[in-house]
Amino acid sequence: MSNIIEIQNLMKVYDNNYTALDKVNLSIKKGEIIALLGPNGAGKTSLISNVCGISSITSGNVFVEGYNVEKEYRKTRDLIGLVPQELSLEPFEKVWASVKFSRQLFGKKRNDNYLENLLKKLSLWDKKNQIIKSLSGGMKRRVLIAKALSHEPKILFLDEPTAGVDVELRKDMWSIIKELKNDGVTIILTTHYIEEAEMIADRIAVINNGKILLVDKKDNLISKMSKKTLTIYTKQILKSIPHSLKKFNLRIFKNEKKLEYDYTASGNKTGITTLLSKIKSSGIELIDVQTRQSTLEEIFVEIVNND
Ligand SMILES: Nc1ncnc2c1ncn2[C@@H]1O[C@H](COP(=O)(O)OP(=O)(O)OP(=O)(O)O)[C@@H](O)[C@H]1O
Ligand SMILES: [Mg+2]
Repeated sequence: MSNIIEIQNLMKVYDNNYTALDKVNLSIKKGEIIALLGPNGAGKTSLISNVCGISSITSGNVFVEGYNVEKEYRKTRDLIGLVPQELSLEPFEKVWASVKFSRQLFGKKRNDNYLENLLKKLSLWDKKNQIIKSLSGGMKRRVLIAKALSHEPKILFLDEPTAGVDVELRKDMWSIIKELKNDGVTIILTTHYIEEAEMIADRIAVINNGKILLVDKKDNLISKMSKKTLTIYTKQILKSIPHSLKKFNLRIFKNEKKLEYDYTASGNKTGITTLLSKIKSSGIELIDVQTRQSTLEEIFVEIVNND
């Protein structure tokens, strides 16, 4: 896969001297879904604004399909659709008119067929003559997506597409996003719902204090950084750990008949076989075992806290 966006040493310093982006380097591959994760104020929206050319770059370069976003703004802006973080819609405008207007803004030739299909895909077709004010919050978000896609961009930025959206709608949104990926659209989304990144992203970038801390394939991240915990259910509550098991750093519990053992998921040597046989020879009676893998959420919190 070739890169559709290249971000090189990007700095964004606001007028009040606040550095929101600090030498950001990031390559985004054509056709991928990349999730930008980071706490409030990390710089996600600032990064998107710089790539989309709606806020000025302090230093560094951003290329979209090889075009420089500052010098060739019209070309790059044409390639990009943006669903902003804040709901920004004309309340009394009708859905159809609003989406059609967005397309016109880009100077695209009229194509009602395309817009009709787009509205159908987003389940908005039966709402096309309603004024935006009369739509639910989730429907308004869909209108924002329709507007962002009205000029047939190759890249779609979604700045927290599912903030404040209920579980059902969030799932709908995920399938819309996946469908867009199937159509070949490159998608960059920011989210505070780590589950969302886990569900739909190919790669994850973690940003904090204006710096990219890590970029990796989601699956790599989970298998590399994830800790596993083995819970061993025993017949009796243990008062202490036998000497032969000391090196395993097991956790015992006052009121529960179990032991816990932490290991990393990446190593070939987990130590589990030895542990279990040592437990057996120490005379502890074993009822059941269970493993649990740390979630992306736990990994994320650890990365950000270590920063
Ligand atoms: N116009 C501005 N002038 C000065 N500082 C700004 C401006 N816009 C953003 N900032 C600051 O830059 C930092 C990054 O803001 P940004 O909106 O990019 O964060 P974010 O990661 O999108 O956060 P959130 O998750 O809350 O949306 C914040 O500290 C913010 O206060
Ligand atoms: Mg933001």
